[in-house]
Amino acid sequence: REAPVVLGIESSCDETGIGIVRGSQLLANAVSSSMDEHVRFGGVIPEIASRAHLEAMIPTLEKALADAELTLDDVDAIAVTSGPGLAGALMVGVAAAKALAFAANKPLYAINHLVAHVGVGVLDGGELPKNLGALLVSGGHTEILKIDNLTSDVTLLGATIDDAAGEAYDKVARLLGLGYPGGPAIDRAAKEGNPKAIRFPRGLSVPKFMGTAEEPGPHRYDFSFSGLKTAVSRAVEHFDKNGQEVPVADVAASFQEAVVDVITKKAVLACQEHGLTTLLLGGGVAANSRLRELLAARCQSAGIELRIPPFSLCTDNGAMVAALGAQVVMAGIEPSGITFGTDTGQP
Ligand code: KG4
Ligand code: ZN
Repeated sequence: REAPVVLGIESSCDETGIGIVRGSQLLANAVSSSMDEHVRFGGVIPEIASRAHLEAMIPTLEKALADAELTLDDVDAIAVTSGPGLAGALMVGVAAAKALAFAANKPLYAINHLVAHVGVGVLDGGELPKNLGALLVSGGHTEILKIDNLTSDVTLLGATIDDAAGEAYDKVARLLGLGYPGGPAIDRAAKEGNPKAIRFPRGLSVPKFMGTAEEPGPHRYDFSFSGLKTAVSRAVEHFDKNGQEVPVADVAASFQEAVVDVITKKAVLACQEHGLTTLLLGGGVAANSRLRELLAARCQSAGIELRIPPFSLCTDNGAMVAALGAQVVMAGIEPSGITFGTDTGQP
């Protein structure tokens, strides 16, 4: 039987994405972002994102079908992100998916956004290996996952208990007057700075939270970035109070080192302690140059193979939803039906 053509819809945050795949082959990946509309607020405003999805949905759908040189008739199934994400934003994608599935009489599949960040890996290098872990770092989430079976057995090993990593970048960039989105700006500024200039806290890294491999603490693989954000804000105040110019590059580099150090350490530790031999990286923060460098080095020392899909597949997009949708179809899983709701929380 030929691999199914699946159309995937993503609208959990500020990207309206429609992707189309045939099995593990990428046919189209159309994305429209409302990022520009959030710039002056320094972060994603849910109501604005929802309205932008509404406006972008049909044009993005038309672009994806045109890019794939297909019509809706050629599509075998529709997949849509049902969560986690912003409630109003998710609802636009889910409503669009239900309408398409109903009108064109196609089976409909509700897809978990986080697992889709992993499933996208099949579009880049084919079937995913056994003993797979994933590190997802974006503006909306920061998680370590263990994947025993992409379509039926995914475990959340750790997650942030407050801010997401990208969110921390965005907030600190704002403190430093570097603009939004903050990730790329800090990445750039940090290149001119000394990462050892200021020792910022590594969240949830003390024994009380870490415990040991035999007796794990309550947050062994979890992250916290809000204390770090406060520490940066204190440092900036300290320079201001003493009439000193804030050494932006040094603060950016030291902040980045704290984030990347703890993320890479915990991800590698989770892999080692769960026998995970491949680690897949996903999310917008995957673009970070220091994260890539340190993660590659630490994975190599630990004998873990690191897989990083191309950046267009790391950030939120519809192809990842289509890719996981196709895996779900091929695994023979029943469609979700047309009455499912959205899930705004963590899995
Ligand atoms: O995956 P994504 O496009 O959207 C979601 O948040 O789901 O990720 C966007 C996040 C933003 O917080 C942005 O600041 C961060 O990814 N980001 C980076 C870099 N490029 C984007 N963070 C650090 N370094 C970068 N080079
Ligand atoms: Zn995402």
